[in-house]
Amino acid sequence: MSAAVGIALTGSGAATPARVVTNGELSLWLDTSDAWICSRTGIAARRIAMAEDSLESLSSQAARQALERAGWRPDQVDLILLATSSPDDLFGSAPAVQAALGADNAVAFDLTAACSGFLFALITAAQYIRSGTYRRVLVVGADLLSRWVDWQDRRTCVLFGDGAGAVAMEAAPESWEGLLAMVMRTDGHRRSCLTMAHQATSQVLHDQLQVGSGGFQPIAMDGQEVYKFAVQQVPLVLTQALKQAGLTAEHLDWLLLHQANERILASVAQRLDIPAAKVLSNLKNYGNTSAATIPLMLHEAVAAQWIRPGHLIASSGFGAGLSWGAALLRWGRPEAA
Ligand code: COA
Repeated sequence: MSAAVGIALTGSGAATPARVVTNGELSLWLDTSDAWICSRTGIAARRIAMAEDSLESLSSQAARQALERAGWRPDQVDLILLATSSPDDLFGSAPAVQAALGADNAVAFDLTAACSGFLFALITAAQYIRSGTYRRVLVVGADLLSRWVDWQDRRTCVLFGDGAGAVAMEAAPESWEGLLAMVMRTDGHRRSCLTMAHQATSQVLHDQLQVGSGGFQPIAMDGQEVYKFAVQQVPLVLTQALKQAGLTAEHLDWLLLHQANERILASVAQRLDIPAAKVLSNLKNYGNTSAATIPLMLHEAVAAQWIRPGHLIASSGFGAGLSWGAALLRWGRPEAA
């Protein structure tokens, strides 16, 4: 182990399925409308995975792009963290990403914290770098929740979409701090607000042995409780993160929240007195892609050069668990700032 080091966020990537499903298309089989979905959520369309799409392939595309933009070779990657709640394989999808990239020196594993997953993975990755254990980490957030919604339940299925995003994080000189503050929270007492739970049924193997079999239930959500939780707790953790770093909301270039609902973005920004022009949002085109929303939005803003090297970003993820957290990020590497 070496002495503590700084952290730099040096590359981003994203991938989404090609198929676009608009609100109008949903109303072909659901009792819903474009007007209802747009006004209550800000979502106009989402990308949906077809049978031939896979979480592993979208994750690999996003991760490859982040790696290339960071200027790394695949054999230089030390760790791949894949935040997902919808892996192709419950044993973990990160190894498939490692193999697809040819990142043969990397250790790769999944991390599950629902819509907070990417932020938690980013913070986890930073600990490995800070301790000197690893130098280059790919953090991927990806979910295909379209596989897990009840497509007849208009209260949930209209909210979600599919996608993957990735960030390359690397060791930097100690003076460069790409992660200035972090907060992570969980409230397991409220876990029933948002679930995708396994339901066991008894399978009789012989007259003395009945084992639990079964499968997973579709997403179930108490929308109003989740909404209240988000607008109450997200401003608190963001304020805590700013305080940790000795900064105020005025120092921020961007607010990058988990993209769940346009009204949640507006409410959090208002509570922190952050102007709408600094609030990043792509909900309209993608809906809630769970662990993918933050890196998808980040990549879009970096590729468009809205986010530039040296910019300060306040980010917050929140969702099932209940789980939530915040991080203050500085984009780019020292020499480019
Ligand atoms: N289309 C049309 N009507 C719908 C609908 C849809 N897709 N979904 C629900 N409705 C109806 C309800 O049945 C209800 O009708 P009723 O009054 O006749 O019973 C009415 O709209 C209002 O429902 P309500 O649940 O009170 O709406 P809302 O304003 O709370 O909005 C959410 C619902 C889900 C958009 C909102 O609660 C929300 O965004 N919550 C947070 C969810 C979230 O972000 N989850 C992920 C976190 S990671």
